[in-house]
Amino acid sequence: MNINLKKLNFSRRTFIKNFLALAGVSSIGTALTSCSRKSSKNIKIGLMLPYTGTYAKLGKAIENGFKMALAKNGELDPESIDFYQVDDESNPAKAVDNANKLIVKDKVDILIGTVHSGVVMGMLKIARNSDALMLIPNAGAGAATGSQCAKNIFRTSFTNWQPTYPLGKILMEKGHKKAIFITWKYAAGSEARAGFEEGYIKFGGELINTLYVPFPNVEFQALLTKISAVKPDAVVCFFAGGGAVKFVKDYAASGLKDKIPLFGSGFLTEGVLPAQGAAAEGLMTTLHYADSLQNETNKSFRTKYYEKYGKLADVYAVQGYDTGLVLSQSLNKVDGDFKDRSGMIRAIEGMSVDSPRGQWTMSKAHNPIQNIYLRQVINNDNKVLKTAWDALEDPATGCGLI
Ligand code: PHB
Repeated sequence: MNINLKKLNFSRRTFIKNFLALAGVSSIGTALTSCSRKSSKNIKIGLMLPYTGTYAKLGKAIENGFKMALAKNGELDPESIDFYQVDDESNPAKAVDNANKLIVKDKVDILIGTVHSGVVMGMLKIARNSDALMLIPNAGAGAATGSQCAKNIFRTSFTNWQPTYPLGKILMEKGHKKAIFITWKYAAGSEARAGFEEGYIKFGGELINTLYVPFPNVEFQALLTKISAVKPDAVVCFFAGGGAVKFVKDYAASGLKDKIPLFGSGFLTEGVLPAQGAAAEGLMTTLHYADSLQNETNKSFRTKYYEKYGKLADVYAVQGYDTGLVLSQSLNKVDGDFKDRSGMIRAIEGMSVDSPRGQWTMSKAHNPIQNIYLRQVINNDNKVLKTAWDALEDPATGCGLI
């Protein structure tokens, strides 16, 4: 056995010391690679996440949630992990080089990443032909669990299709028959739009126009003027992180908020509510998570996350946490032998995860089958109104595993 997975009773002091050592590694930020201790017995985990730019906070929340799950009940000895870390800057042009560094040069056993759909496509090019196990804690690019799916690649988050597909039905229930979609021009935006349009048409709606802004630009004024001229019944969007703060504020400041209701995939209001303030109040979104979910796992997760990091947990923290759960549950199944990749893969296939988002299972294409919730911002909090879709599974078109 190469790694001590037994419930180690290491003293709180030792644990905190080790944990802080790991946290120190992570604070290097843009440094390309860093590693704690080197031992051939240690499991090597590569974290390829954005630590700068519009998605910086998303990357940090994923890392926090991930480390919190690894430390849970002292199941995984922090001394037996070597972390390697890359700031991917949400830059697709650097993705292949960054993934190469972690997989080929550093020879990580597990590659965790990333947030941005364009960057994950570059990572797939390297990871699909490697021996590393790759866990995607956010990026929703359909191809990762569709045409480019692979034995050693799993996603613990969502496909871009999943959160917006149920939104068309919600708009039609509210009598909004003609909508405009606005988003960044890259895979996450166009796939979120496609998911929305598919569901909307099915329930009788019409998407009359799509407006694109280059990623990560936040110059929305000209497009808001267009929306106000066309006067659709509703506006639907995909934005996240820093860009979501700016868009929600601009939408309210332009006076549109009181005239044309704004909907979105729930990333719009995740981790950014304090910055959006009153501009976000009342917004309705669909997502696989909501702060106010009343299951015991969510309540205890939110309390512990706040105690540990002094921040409110969001969907990114949940996805990082679930990534850590998936990894530790699979390691438990192979008795800690992380070189037994096929044993770990078998353990993850069909795995059921007791997540703060509610129980979810891993599909044959390696993507969560999960509930999508309708949420509304009430008193600066993402409150659940209802389950918009039960156990939604991505169609995984083109995946050879199904
Ligand atoms: C993506 O690029 O796939 C992406 C980024 C941020 C999100 C969701 C999806 O919040």
